[in-house]
Amino acid sequence: MAALRVLSGTRPTSQLHLGNLLGALDNWKKYQKEDAFFMIADWHALTTEYESHLSLADQVFEVALDYLASGLDPKKATIFVQSWVPQHAELALLLSMITPLSWLERNPTYKDQIRELADKDIKTHGFLGYPVLQAADILLYQADVVPVGEDQLPHLELCREIARRFNHLYQKNVFKEPKAVLSKVPKLPGLDGRKMSKSYGNAIYLSDSPKEVEQKVMQMVTDPARKRRSDKGHPEVCPVYTYHQIFNAKNETTVAKECRAAERGCVECKREMCQTLQVFMTPMYETRSKLKKNKQEVVDILKAGSKKAAAVAQETLERAKQAAGM
Ligand code: TRP
Ligand code: SF4
Repeated sequence: MAALRVLSGTRPTSQLHLGNLLGALDNWKKYQKEDAFFMIADWHALTTEYESHLSLADQVFEVALDYLASGLDPKKATIFVQSWVPQHAELALLLSMITPLSWLERNPTYKDQIRELADKDIKTHGFLGYPVLQAADILLYQADVVPVGEDQLPHLELCREIARRFNHLYQKNVFKEPKAVLSKVPKLPGLDGRKMSKSYGNAIYLSDSPKEVEQKVMQMVTDPARKRRSDKGHPEVCPVYTYHQIFNAKNETTVAKECRAAERGCVECKREMCQTLQVFMTPMYETRSKLKKNKQEVVDILKAGSKKAAAVAQETLERAKQAAGM
């Protein structure tokens, strides 16, 4: 059977954290035996961050380090930067011609984000067109599957609708409709028990040193009802326990039992969890630190990936322009 064409990406708005690793990267890695393309979506970052004056180039580099350290392998998958492949911008423009404004205005993610990011002025042409650019990202590569989180489903649906409309308008089968695949992982809580997110300041980053990991773990919230060491705990409401379940699964039942019987204290419980987490994260941290000193090597990987991506993208773009009579 022919390999599946796979495409996914993240926005380089911050370094990646453990939640991104479990929710996205670990899932992507499974597709490396297929024909996979993994993108750093810097244009998409600019849609909401155009006023933040971040150095997007630096952020792209940091996310590239996260990708590589977490095990994305440039020998297997094509790793590239969206803005280094100009075909993305060009196809997005072409698709914008045929995308009804009403489809974008009723996109639930658009409405949510306008509400949630009230401190940012994102009532812009670029942000409204976010899903059009995302459709271009996917359609350029004729992707069969797009591994994403649940929040991206409306964008995937719009992508399919845009593909269908284009093919129908020009009576040519230019674009393939992609399928979204969701990763089935539990949501990872952050240090404060809410969903891990850089905007909550509760994240453990892949770039955190073993020492930083320890400091963060030691300040994690636990069962709020357990005030004294002698109080019986409720592991089911404790974020530290969720980490034991994910990273220390072989001791999960012991931890729960001892917690319920007040046979273990929260400090020792965190220490044990921290140690397993460090065993898991330290190799990533070391690879990342090594690569960070070899900036040119990373840039070369991204350049080679972008060149390979551009060759595939160009072919689709030409067919699309031709279909539209250009
Ligand atoms: N919108 C995605 C996110 O915020 C990032 C993204 C951009 C993407 N282009 C994509 C994901 C194409 C999958 C396919 O996570
Ligand atoms: Fe959480 Fe462990 Fe404390 Fe129980 S003992 S409340 S699982 S940190």
